[in-house]
Amino acid sequence: EELLAQNERDSLFIVTEFAQKYYAEQLKSEEGRSIGYSYFKERGYNDATIEKFGLGYSPDSWGMFTKHALKKGFSLPILEKAGLTIIKEGKDPIDRFRGRVVFPINNVAGKPIAFGARILKANPKSPKYLNSPETDIYHKSRIVYGIYTAKNGIRNEDNCYLVEGYTDVVSLNQAGIENVVASSGTSLTKEQIQLIRRFSTNITVLYDGDAAGINASLRGTDIILEEGLNVRVVVFPDGEDPDSFVQSVGSDAFKTYVKEKSKDFIRFKTEISLERVGNDPVAKAGLITELVETITKIPDAIKRAVFYKEVATLLQIDEAVLINEGNKLLRKST
Ligand code: UTP
Ligand code: MN
Ligand code: MN
Ligand code: MN
Ligand code: MN
Repeated sequence: EELLAQNERDSLFIVTEFAQKYYAEQLKSEEGRSIGYSYFKERGYNDATIEKFGLGYSPDSWGMFTKHALKKGFSLPILEKAGLTIIKEGKDPIDRFRGRVVFPINNVAGKPIAFGARILKANPKSPKYLNSPETDIYHKSRIVYGIYTAKNGIRNEDNCYLVEGYTDVVSLNQAGIENVVASSGTSLTKEQIQLIRRFSTNITVLYDGDAAGINASLRGTDIILEEGLNVRVVVFPDGEDPDSFVQSVGSDAFKTYVKEKSKDFIRFKTEISLERVGNDPVAKAGLITELVETITKIPDAIKRAVFYKEVATLLQIDEAVLINEGNKLLRKST
């Protein structure tokens, strides 16, 4: 198979697809069924969902996948370059993913380019998710998980839900919500936003309902505004993420919650910051600077004007003060 590939990138696509099929197949093996498939069942995933996302299982073995791939004609260098096999001097090559459930990461055309693999029992010595390294076909900063299954929905709804995790994407799909992609736990990049912008200019951030999730959405969201998109935010009850929440309340209640609780990002940031600073005037002054900074990220002058007015009202200060500060910042940056 590899011999037919026209170049190395093609070989990487072929071996990654081969691995995806292998892991999906292994989910049906005896070990895969009792460990991997049963795990997905416990998490509420049905067979159609497992199929739709090409979910799989990597056997708990040092080299079973690598040996199989070699036998099928793939070379060690290509297996290593695809991030599937780890080679250390003087040692037998080993499989990167062992004894984990596997979430293939697809490009916008639906081809698998990498994997995220979840551990099954908590183990402090091993990360919960092990991800493929960067390869010639996988650049973490340029892709969002779920974009292939999401793109039509994003276009139709003219809105993209942005979540943190693989399982959030999978569970929302199972609940009939397809316009959802995950940043996979890292902060968003310009390239990722530009990818989403091909399908819609509206993003609704659905981050985990814990301090980390809220802070991540406060920190990571200015960059979405910078790319000219409109941003709304939904906060989930403490300790819930979109996956756990939709699994517990069901699809209809989830949709109602999101509709009722979603809030414009700048309003959200203003309100939450106001709560945090309380009556301290110095802290409030700092907050004003920060909010003005956020507003200046918006490329469109008319939208900026709307937000100056809104934030001025929420902070009970003169709109002219905000506009003046904003214009100073804008002059500095050009
Ligand atoms: P979370 O810790 O919120 O995990 O990380 P999760 O998605 O809710 O997964 P479950 O429900 O515990 O199975 C959010 C995302 O951050 C990345 C993964 O993409 C994960 O989905 N992450 C997290 C890692 O890459 N490595 C880790 O060790 C943890
Ligand atoms: Mn490259
Ligand atoms: Mn989290
Ligand atoms: Mn979760
Ligand atoms: Mn989570």
